[in-house]
Amino acid sequence: MGKDTFYITTPIYYVNDKPHIGHAYTTILADVLARFHRLLGDPTFFMTGTDEHGQKVEKAAAEKGIPPQQQADETVIRFQELWQKLDITFDRFIRTTMPFHKKVVQEALQDLYDRGLIYKAEYEGWYCVPDERFCTERDLVDGKCPDCGREVTRIVESNYFFKMSQFQDWLIDYIKSHPEFIQPAFRANETLGFLKKPLNDLCISRPKSRLSWGIELPFDRDYVCYVWFDALINYISGVGYRQDDEQFKKWWPASYHLIGKDILTTHTVYWPTMLKAMNLEMPKTIFAHGWWLIGKDKMSKSRGNVVNPMDMAEKYGVDAFRYFLLAEMTMGNDASFSEDAFILRYNSDLANDLGNLLSRVLKMTLRNGGTVPQPGEYSAEENELFAALHNAISATESSIKEMRLETGIAAILEAVRAGNRYLEKTAPWTLLKQGNTEKLNTVLYVCAELLRNVSVLLYPVMPEKMGDLREAIGLERELDVNIRDLTRGGNVMTGKVMKDREPLFMRIMVEKENAQPKAAKAKVKEEKKVEEAPLISIDKFFKTKLKTAKVLTAEKVPDSTKLLRLEIDLGGETRQIVSGIAEHYTPESLIGKTIVVVANLAPAKIRGVDSYGMLLAAKSGKTLRLVTLDGDVPPGVQVG
Ligand code: ME8
Ligand code: MG
Repeated sequence: MGKDTFYITTPIYYVNDKPHIGHAYTTILADVLARFHRLLGDPTFFMTGTDEHGQKVEKAAAEKGIPPQQQADETVIRFQELWQKLDITFDRFIRTTMPFHKKVVQEALQDLYDRGLIYKAEYEGWYCVPDERFCTERDLVDGKCPDCGREVTRIVESNYFFKMSQFQDWLIDYIKSHPEFIQPAFRANETLGFLKKPLNDLCISRPKSRLSWGIELPFDRDYVCYVWFDALINYISGVGYRQDDEQFKKWWPASYHLIGKDILTTHTVYWPTMLKAMNLEMPKTIFAHGWWLIGKDKMSKSRGNVVNPMDMAEKYGVDAFRYFLLAEMTMGNDASFSEDAFILRYNSDLANDLGNLLSRVLKMTLRNGGTVPQPGEYSAEENELFAALHNAISATESSIKEMRLETGIAAILEAVRAGNRYLEKTAPWTLLKQGNTEKLNTVLYVCAELLRNVSVLLYPVMPEKMGDLREAIGLERELDVNIRDLTRGGNVMTGKVMKDREPLFMRIMVEKENAQPKAAKAKVKEEKKVEEAPLISIDKFFKTKLKTAKVLTAEKVPDSTKLLRLEIDLGGETRQIVSGIAEHYTPESLIGKTIVVVANLAPAKIRGVDSYGMLLAAKSGKTLRLVTLDGDVPPGVQVG
């Protein structure tokens, strides 16, 4: 405490394989926290990177028949591209094969060796190859690795050991007297449980004859350094340790090491004892989050259930993906990932609640001249809405301190829903008709102010979308306010000019045949009921703009058997539409055809692809035929 600098890290990821949503989650979480702290005005340093040495990477390289450095160089790009796509604002990306890092590791090793904290001894015992872990006889569970349950190998070799055991009592005391050190608290108990057994010294070397891909020990060239000893040091080598004292003093100790629960022991036992031996301060908090599961299963290549974050971001948008991961997981616990759950939350929170609020406020303000008016007196309903907003602001602040971001997000969405309820109650469209200008002005002002606040609160989670929202309500894309000052807004919004825009989040349509989320199904039914009005007037019919269109291109939508993506000429305007006709028409057969489309349909996202209209077709049983024209008609001509 005392220091208001904020230094946050993610694990450095192995470059044996490309990233999946687990890696994306930790990194997005770190990014959101870094962005919040920058917003709070704290000097912030955010570091991520890759762990490039060791057996896993060597093995992946050997399987491909390439050198390990090439394996690292090729895979690191996958991480860097993903972080760019996901808008990750790290300050430094560290690779453990970088020369400066190797030098720091070697200096640290030499220093510990010189001070007698590293010694050489004969080791005979069990070794788990995939985990790179030595196990004592007692550690074994049914003769197998206690961590992963796989076969262990008997090995006898000379190695170097770090005197970890001598710090056991100190570590137990430290954990007990620093409740913020390991979070959530139940993880601290897990580590304390582990520390009930006597702590062994840590084998920090690998003979080159067995593994050569690592940092050479400075005091014995026949060995390389154990990958975890090398990797953990990234947290200090990356902020100037043994290179730039001033920089190091500024950032160390770290505020947070974010990790998954899989690497709790290395971070809460190895790392603190290493730091203690190096006479360095402890990080303030090691926060271990839970797993993203697929259903109830762990994600793994062998199960074939790995979700690619790049695909999710491309299909549904970066910000929606960031939002989902943060809103859906109770920080610290496991959560289950599914595309259905994603679509459900997207449609309800983003398209319905937030997107709708913005659309309604824009529409009403534009009908009222487009400028945010001066509000009149507030009554109980305005005060109630502001109470929901103030609750969202304080919940957001405490959710950062308590590392429960999902609770802050829930409170923000609650304020958004309160905004929608407020609009329904005050009915500004009626106020406009009645000429009740004072109340209308109040309503429009209050809603604009709500949206401004929401754009700040959700900015760290959805920077692009909140920039878009801000632009629509007449603000600069970039934030000009510190979260702490939000409630002291004054009359910021009066006079701002709003601009119309397409929906901020287009509803995701689920193909009917697909397993549709239950709640979405219920909603569809409800909407149908409302629409089934018997006869309509001609005026009403002409509200639907039917137009002729020429198909320019057609192709299948990836991963869908039913959908085609068409580009159509609407008479000088080219548009994309998505249509469920792939089982009835080949893409080639459509090109050049003149069809009829609904031209003024609200845009929708279908299977991640934007659709700006709908073509007309008749379906009878298994047959589907397009509505076409009886003779040559140019595109863009009105039908009706
Ligand atoms: O362990 N759910 O790297 P790694 C949530 N190189 N998070 C997950 C996850 C899942 N299903 N799967 C992975 C290493 N993660 C070492 C770290 S640090 C000095 C060295 C995230 O590539 C989570 O943060 O196996 C986990 O701790 C990390 O990826 C492991 O990444
Ligand atoms: Mg792992």
